[in-house]
Amino acid sequence: MATTTDERPLFIVLLGPPGAGKGTQAKRLAEALGLPHISTGDIFREHLKKQTPLGRLAQQYMDRGALVPDEVTIEMVRERLSRDDARRGAILDGFPRTLAQAEAFAAMLAERGARLIVPYIRVPEEVLVERLSGRWICRAHGHIFHEKYNPPKQPGVCDYDGSELYQREDDKPETIQHRIRVYEEETAPLIEYYRNQGVLVEIDGNRPMDEVTWALIDAVQDALNQKSTASEDA
Ligand code: AP5
Repeated sequence: MATTTDERPLFIVLLGPPGAGKGTQAKRLAEALGLPHISTGDIFREHLKKQTPLGRLAQQYMDRGALVPDEVTIEMVRERLSRDDARRGAILDGFPRTLAQAEAFAAMLAERGARLIVPYIRVPEEVLVERLSGRWICRAHGHIFHEKYNPPKQPGVCDYDGSELYQREDDKPETIQHRIRVYEEETAPLIEYYRNQGVLVEIDGNRPMDEVTWALIDAVQDALNQKSTASEDA
């Protein structure tokens, strides 16, 4: 799917509140498009697991649902995007999350002459809380489950690699509420920012996971078709 003759790198930024399904859908899109899935939250958690200085720094912010400082996050993403597997593009999940990050990212895209599509996954707040408090994640590879909507075959065990499932420290009810507030203040302004650039595509995320995936794949294909028509017309 999603083929065009356009050889420019393709970056897809999944925008949406905590629990919208960015991680779930990013994994599926990455597979469908053959692009790497880059989640800043996962990179921070990986550093935390290894107890690197970056992991210890990030933990101070993540555990209370605050954002890691922009300079740290931007440099981490710049380094990640310089790797060979991101040469053709990537699916970004959790970045950019502030206006400063979006502007730094725009400069990275301009350097590469890359294309950008920003699906915004809309989900009502009451659904977010239920999704996050029922989420279970696999320790080995970050596969995502939900005790009601996507339960593992055996409770506490990952279907794909047999590793232990755990609940995230920041998925406690009070931290979830704080993350949603931080999203509204810091990240929601990016909806208008990207709408004004003509790259935003709205997706209703309040429906079964497979339907969201199909809607995303259609939206990406449509956006690619429009961009290739626009560049042929130019
Ligand atoms: P991060 O890991 O990015 O968390 P988040 O944005 O809060 O998003 P989540 O991972 O909680 O939710 P999601 O949208 O991916 O939902 P999921 O697919 O898992 O960030 C964590 C922290 O790291 C931040 O608070 C911050 O401290 C730091 N950080 C990260 N990036 C940063 C940045 N750029 N700048 C600064 N700091 C940064 O789905 C949720 C649940 O719902 C799952 O159980 C899933 O199975 C279920 N589900 C998914 N879709 C559906 C559906 N359609 N129907 C029913 N259930 C569903």
